[in-house]
Amino acid sequence: MSGNTIRYRVFENPDSASAQAAAEMAQLIRERAVIGRTAVIGFATGRTQLPFFEELIYLYREEGLSFRNVICFNLDEYLGLEQTHPESFRSFMRWNLYDFIDVPRENIHFLRGDLTTEKIPAHCRAYEKKISEAGGIDLQILGIGRNGHIGFNEPGSDIQCRTSRVPIAEMTRRDAIRDFGDFDDVPTEALTMGCGTILEARKIILLAWGSQKARVIRRAIQGPVGSKLPASYLQTHPSAQVFLDTPAASVLMEK
Ligand code: F6R
Repeated sequence: MSGNTIRYRVFENPDSASAQAAAEMAQLIRERAVIGRTAVIGFATGRTQLPFFEELIYLYREEGLSFRNVICFNLDEYLGLEQTHPESFRSFMRWNLYDFIDVPRENIHFLRGDLTTEKIPAHCRAYEKKISEAGGIDLQILGIGRNGHIGFNEPGSDIQCRTSRVPIAEMTRRDAIRDFGDFDDVPTEALTMGCGTILEARKIILLAWGSQKARVIRRAIQGPVGSKLPASYLQTHPSAQVFLDTPAASVLMEK
C-alpha cells in the first residue's frame, strides 16, 4: 500500500516536544470549553508519556487549564491483571495523570483486563460504542514500540482491526521486564483499541524519544505501509504528526 510520509517535528529534548504536544491539546480543550462542548482525547501509557503528562499537570496547576470538559479513552490494557494491579495501565494513568487533574471520573474510560473470556468481545464492542457515542476521538496520543506497535497492535495487525483481545509480541514482553521484574510475570495478552479505531481519530500525535526508537521511527515515517509495522499505517492518516527528540530522529532521511 502506498502512503505519504508522516509530518514530523524534531525538538531539542522530550520536554520541549511534550510542551508542544500539551499546548496543542490545551488549545483543543479550551476551544471546546468556550463553546460548551467536550474534547475527546485518546491517551497512551508508557515511559514516553511521562514528560507529556507532567506538562499537562503543569498547565492544569499553573496555567488554569481545566479538564472538566474532557472525555478520555485509554488505548489498551494488559489482560489478566486486576484493575488495582500496580502494573495495570489503569494504575499507571491514575498515578501519573488522572489523580492530578480535574477530569471528571465518570469521563475516564478504560479497557478492562480483569474480565473472563466470555465477557471480552461484548466489552470491546461496548468500548467502540462509547467512543462513537462521545462523538469520536478528537486527538489521539500514541507512543511506539521498538517493533512498530501502536497500542498493543503488534506486527501482523490489520489496518482495519477494531478493539479486541490480542497476543503481546515477545519483544514487547521483554521490554516490559523493566516494569514486571521477570519475563514470566509479563502478561501474554492484552485488550487494545484496533488500528482501524485509532485511525478514525481526527488528529493523531505520536511521541518518541531516544536512539532506541530511531530505527523504528524511520521505518514508520519513511518505509512502506504494511502490517509488518503497524505504526506505518499512520502514513494513511490525513492529520497524523510525529514529535521526536533529536536522538529519535537521528536516522531519518532528509525531507
Ligand atoms: C501503551 C502503548 C504502547 C506504548 C509503547 C511505547 O499504552 O500504547 O504502544 O506506547 O509500547 O512504550 P514506552 O513509551 O514505554 O517506550
